[in-house]
Amino acid sequence: MMTAVHPMPRRGRFAAGMLMGLSFLAGAAHASEAGSIKAGREAAQSCAACHGAKGNSNNPAFPSLAGQPATYLASQLTAYRDGKRENAIMAGQAAGLSDQQIQDIAAYYAAQERKVASPADEGSALGADLYHHGRDNVAACAACHHSEGHGNQPAGFPALRGLSAGYVAQSLKDYRSGTRAHGQAELMIPLAAELSDAEIDALAAHIASLD
Ligand code: HEC
Ligand code: HEC
Repeated sequence: MMTAVHPMPRRGRFAAGMLMGLSFLAGAAHASEAGSIKAGREAAQSCAACHGAKGNSNNPAFPSLAGQPATYLASQLTAYRDGKRENAIMAGQAAGLSDQQIQDIAAYYAAQERKVASPADEGSALGADLYHHGRDNVAACAACHHSEGHGNQPAGFPALRGLSAGYVAQSLKDYRSGTRAHGQAELMIPLAAELSDAEIDALAAHIASLD
């Protein structure tokens, strides 16, 4: 007797694909939900005015996007579009993007090389110490964001090198206040909640000096 063949649930398909190893990786590049770098380059043309050519920004108000994990970029863009990460400028930029365009743009920026044009001259000894060693209730930033701020692509942890002190400090305060609470923010909120303003400024100064 024949039984109807049901499509495997997503999770099942993923697990089965993992077992197939390389053939799965090759197949993933063609899966419809995966981002297309070529389509992303087209869709990202309007972004360059603020985020710089190929996602390397020279303006401290606009974070560099080059080399960020695609999962991180897609998560942030979706959050701006859906009002979960509040920013008037980015809400407008993301408003018209489809899920597929978000995946394409994320794939494009993830594939670009991150370049730090002008690291800050002045670092911070306190910031460097906290970054590398943490303290009670504050995990070392380097454990997730890499000792030189390169982030962790497979885990989706963003790169920090090339971000301005002002942007980093604002981000840490947004995690501390719970304003940024979507995506993987649960990994940042408990430790940001422990940081004083002085520690946030010190960390931001150290991160802005990474080259
Ligand atoms: C007019 C300037 C402007 C334009 C154009 C713009 N952005 Fe932004 N973008 C910003 C600002 C400002 C921020 C920081 C907002 C915040 O603090 O949340 C930002 C943040 C982001 C972030 C979050 C970065 C991070 O490290 O978390 C992403 C992703 C992003 N923009 C993608 C895009 C894309 C894709 C486009 C084009 C479709 C675009 N932006 C166009 C100004 C701009
Ligand atoms: C357990 C891993 C982990 C640790 C430890 C950690 N982070 Fe993060 N960090 C993350 C993740 C994951 C995100 C992205 C969260 C999201 O989705 O908004 C993030 C985001 C950030 C951002 C925002 C980046 C951007 O482009 O907007 C900054 C700034 C940051 N972390 C700084 C720090 C600092 C400073 C420390 C140390 C005091 C630290 N992080 C420790 C995992 C970690």
